[in-house]
Amino acid sequence: MWTYPKVIAHRGGGVLAPENTLTAFQCGLDWGFRAVEFDVMLTKDLIPIAIHDEKLGRTVVGKERVCNSLAQDLFQLDAGSWFAPEFSNSRLPGYLQVLEFCAQHGIWMNVEIKPAHGFEAITGKIVAEITHDFYQQTNYSSMQLPLFSSFKLDALRAAKLAAPNVPRALIYKRIPNSWQEDVRELNAVALHTNHKNLTAKMAKKVKRAGMQLACYTVNNLDRARMLSHWGVDAFFTDRIDLDWRSLLC
Ligand code: G3P
Ligand code: MG
Repeated sequence: MWTYPKVIAHRGGGVLAPENTLTAFQCGLDWGFRAVEFDVMLTKDLIPIAIHDEKLGRTVVGKERVCNSLAQDLFQLDAGSWFAPEFSNSRLPGYLQVLEFCAQHGIWMNVEIKPAHGFEAITGKIVAEITHDFYQQTNYSSMQLPLFSSFKLDALRAAKLAAPNVPRALIYKRIPNSWQEDVRELNAVALHTNHKNLTAKMAKKVKRAGMQLACYTVNNLDRARMLSHWGVDAFFTDRIDLDWRSLLC
């Protein structure tokens, strides 16, 4: 059984706000979402921040890699104008800021650990340590723990070592034959996969094995209904403006 929210705002606010910014998280909240997915990467000075791309250029101006840039410099950048001029005040948030925001508003988090190439283990370790410390604070001890996920097994291995009590999900573009070994090794609770590459047969296999199954990025209700029929438990969506209520029962 899926124990997390069934519809999850992808990158904070989907297509309605600049991704992975507090503006996006606020937007998701305003649209009634209490579950969010976002991407976390390390800066050069090993500060985890919310960002998707390894290299600057798409959502913020620049050509550097995130892992070659200092957090204090990245925090100055306009992370909203690429989306629309009125979002020019949006900034890249630190992971801690996102944790604070979500904890304050009771938002469940799927933290996608998104390491730059070569930084897999250290990203998993630092994100997990910060999460562990954050949840040790008495204020937040009653909140449901987030779910870590990653395409990178090394990141999940390191997260498991640093914060074994925070649940983990494997992300696959296409579910490989090795998924059961990966699940066992990581003691993962869920598989997240691209719905475009999922088959009814594979969904059934995963569900029969007792795993939770979530799909990204599902932006169409009919498709979501079909996936649901296959046994898919949850959906990451950019279309937070759709009426997802029929999928929630
Ligand atoms: O975590 C699900 C999904 O976000 C994975 O793909 O590239 O959007 O981070 P991506
Ligand atoms: Mg993601």
